[in-house]
Amino acid sequence: MDKKIFSGVQPTGNLHLGNYLGALKNFVELNNDDANQCIFCVVDLHAITVKHEPNELKNNIRETVASFIASGINPKKSIIFNQSSVAAHSEGAWILSCVARMGWLNRMTQFKEKAGKDKEKASIGLYSYPVLMAADILLYDSTHVPVGDDQKQHLELCRDIAQKFNKDFGVNDFLKAPEPLIQKEFSRIMSLKDGLKKMSKSELSDLSRINLTDEKDQIINKIKKAKTDPLPMPKDVQELKERPEAQNLLGIYSSLNNSSLENSVNKFSGKNFSEFKDELSELLVNKISPISKEIKKLIKEQAYLDSILLDGVEKANKIASKKIKNMKEIVGF
Ligand code: AMP
Ligand code: TRP
Repeated sequence: MDKKIFSGVQPTGNLHLGNYLGALKNFVELNNDDANQCIFCVVDLHAITVKHEPNELKNNIRETVASFIASGINPKKSIIFNQSSVAAHSEGAWILSCVARMGWLNRMTQFKEKAGKDKEKASIGLYSYPVLMAADILLYDSTHVPVGDDQKQHLELCRDIAQKFNKDFGVNDFLKAPEPLIQKEFSRIMSLKDGLKKMSKSELSDLSRINLTDEKDQIINKIKKAKTDPLPMPKDVQELKERPEAQNLLGIYSSLNNSSLENSVNKFSGKNFSEFKDELSELLVNKISPISKEIKKLIKEQAYLDSILLDGVEKANKIASKKIKNMKEIVGF
């Protein structure tokens, strides 16, 4: 059977190296395999679950599309669209929020992280965010969902919601429980300033991440300033367990190079960090600069980017509107 691939990325400003290695790189490989039908969604409804700047949202959506294409996704092969333009996502999310249980959502660690200490002040949207994500996936009968490691729990919830819907309404296999596609290695890229914290857009310091739009000099500077420990480069993989910054930087190097962690560790074993950092910077510049240039070129082609979205919305609507129609009939509307 052909794989039906679905994934989403939030349009919240610059995408970074974590997004690229955890998700986009995988999207491109899946897009290149003709046996797959791929749908990549710019999840703008998810982006308003936290405070956002309305004037910037449209451009952030376009920038996300530009980043998809600059990374190598072919809009002629894959459907690229924005979530808020396909009404079935909001409708489906409501129906599924009546199926999902509070107890399930209370376990979601991303909500706890994002809401911080003051949960009472978090939006209800932030809390029910994974239910909308389940609707995204289930509307397209998606079989596989490529994501970074941080989304694993949300995908398990999606499977639970699908199974409960089918059971509650006696519609065996109507909603298809999807398989997560999470890379075995390097599926969680950490901050350059703290090897125990995820690389993220919301981190205050820009030095903590490599943005896909960074210039050569910025990349070199960020790697130079990246946190390390005082020891020389590790001699074996085992040593990395207690050296999170070394593990992260070697992981980034290996992922970009498509090599194993073991090979990278052996290559730099016992050397100074500065020597490794020079090679890492060079590799990053080689991989990221062409993407950065392409994003900057595409972002100026607003009409082109909008036409991709318009085309994607039309195609996505065709699939999602059928599924939501059936879903509404099943619940009795
Ligand atoms: P987001 O920007 O939160 O919408 O994430 C888009 C995709 O990037 C999702 O598949 C995430 O799992 C992935 N992702 C985000 N941050 C990281 C990270 N630090 N390491 C690996 N994958 C990530
Ligand atoms: N929650 C995902 C993230 O923050 C984004 C997302 C929304 C998504 N809907 C999705 C990912 C559907 C995969 C499938 O990264």
